[in-house]
Amino acid sequence: MGTVRTIGVLTGGGDCPGLNPVIRAVVRRAMANGVVVIGIKNGWQGLVKGETVALDLQSVSGILPKGGTILGTSRTNPFKRPEDAQAVLDHYRALKLDALIAIGGEDTLGVAVKLIAQGLKIVGIPKTIDNDLSRTDFTFGFDTAVNVAMEAIDRLHSTAESHHRIMVAEVMGRHAGWIATYAGIAGGADVILVPEEPVDLDAVCEVIRKRHHRGKEFSIIVVAEGAKFRDGTMIAKEDKTDAFGHVRLGGIGQALADLIEQRTGFETRVTVLGHIQRGGSPTAFDRVLGTRFGAKAVDLVLAGQTGMMVSLQGQQIVAKPLDETAVMMKTIDPELYDLAKSFFG
Ligand code: F6P
Repeated sequence: MGTVRTIGVLTGGGDCPGLNPVIRAVVRRAMANGVVVIGIKNGWQGLVKGETVALDLQSVSGILPKGGTILGTSRTNPFKRPEDAQAVLDHYRALKLDALIAIGGEDTLGVAVKLIAQGLKIVGIPKTIDNDLSRTDFTFGFDTAVNVAMEAIDRLHSTAESHHRIMVAEVMGRHAGWIATYAGIAGGADVILVPEEPVDLDAVCEVIRKRHHRGKEFSIIVVAEGAKFRDGTMIAKEDKTDAFGHVRLGGIGQALADLIEQRTGFETRVTVLGHIQRGGSPTAFDRVLGTRFGAKAVDLVLAGQTGMMVSLQGQQIVAKPLDETAVMMKTIDPELYDLAKSFFG
């Protein structure tokens, strides 16, 4: 690759704590190397429409502790319409980008994989609170979401105990149980239900009853939004799908709470944590991981290593190919879930 003069950066998909630290690191590392950075607004939509913003040290000053993304985001799939995909290619060229840094999850990086095949020079940065991307040990945003959920579980304990109730906490995570399992272990949940294993209602009620017998007249059940009942029923908010074909999950918490109350006779309440898990200031871990990812992505561009994504492997930030395998879903580590199960009840 010749001299790198100009790079673009975009954030796509659901927002997530740590995006601003990544953008800041990209801009600072790029500018330190004499590279101009153009911010693409609202994910791939910005390249479809040609909506950009110049980024400099001033624009990223003070954004490190802020949640969300200063660039805006959207779930735009430019490959839904051939003219949109063409517009992306045209704007990339018109902006004279030497490379693009795409920060996103499965969908945003999936689009990047297709664009790389069409000749664009892209480096990917994995992002999602769900931690469900196969080619990195952790994504930034996950730690913040887990901490929010853990705090909620801590708070549910005192009200559950005072009222002798069962509390069901529904957490995000899409089709993977990472948030549920980490937050559930950290918060000492009595049962944790994940999409990777069908919900066994009899077993859940049995745990609750046993706790009552030993004098624990309250229980905390954490359920991942993508968890399914034994018959395979997964609960979605609506039938409508987004541009990438995903349904909006949510509702299993209420369904489960109703069934638990019916079967055990114990008063049961549900708390749906929802987007609170995605909002607000990133934890120190997510700020550091985001900063390391952002700086490494620029280093890869400068080294001519596009078509790659940054990844956390153990303690190291490394480069991995940005291909179809990179965007495959990573489900919960069975060993970790077995550990969680050994503490149920
Ligand atoms: O992928 C992140 C995530 O927060 C999922 O956990 C959740 O299912 C989804 O996004 C919610 O998306 P939206 O912001 O479109 O409601």
